[in-house]
Amino acid sequence: MIIKACLFDLDGVLVDTAHFHYLAWKHLADKLGFQFTPVDNERLKGVSRMDSLKILLEIGNITLTEQEKTRYADEKNQLYLQYIQRMTPEDILPGVLEFLDELKSSGILLGIGSASKNAPTILERIGLTSLFDVIVDGSLITHAKPHPEVFALGAKLLHINSGHCVVFEDAIAGVQAAHNAGMKCVGVGSLDILKDADLVIPGFKNLKLKDIIL
Ligand code: BG6
Ligand code: MG
Repeated sequence: MIIKACLFDLDGVLVDTAHFHYLAWKHLADKLGFQFTPVDNERLKGVSRMDSLKILLEIGNITLTEQEKTRYADEKNQLYLQYIQRMTPEDILPGVLEFLDELKSSGILLGIGSASKNAPTILERIGLTSLFDVIVDGSLITHAKPHPEVFALGAKLLHINSGHCVVFEDAIAGVQAAHNAGMKCVGVGSLDILKDADLVIPGFKNLKLKDIIL
């Protein structure tokens, strides 16, 4: 395929905020008195805040009122904000900057496709906002991954046909969203979890554009 645009998920792909999300949800689970493991957490990756809470409560077999749900989701977000406020450009994962630079100098457009409403804050903290040609975050979409909206909107704003876009994702729901948008997907993480991706890489360290064979 001819790659004209690359759309990156943010959490767990360019930065390790997936771990902060996990810690913040685990805090709630501890408080509500049930176990929440990293394996359970895979189900929450790429999923919106309220949908994540729904899955978390399902795991703990807990029923809450709508009001309580809003309160717990806010509490989780406050804790998560404390983690991300401390982020700096040093938190960008190894090899990411070099890879993005290579894409830019090859004339490939760069986009963010994240379910997170906190994506703009993180991008500011790590100094990457201006590098991207388009940023689609959780506040611009109504349908969460695996719905294709976040990536379809990114491609539309870049004026690039989905057949020329590649998505980079660490979440199962994100890989499905890319495919639902008619895009190829590079899974970032483990092959066991991301088996539906078109290619799986462990991370961006030493990654070159020529390695992305789709
Ligand atoms: C995704 C994360 O990027 O954003 C999910 O993978 C998270 O774990 C979702 O729930 C929504 O994030 P936020 O920051 O708006 O609560
Ligand atoms: Mg992610």
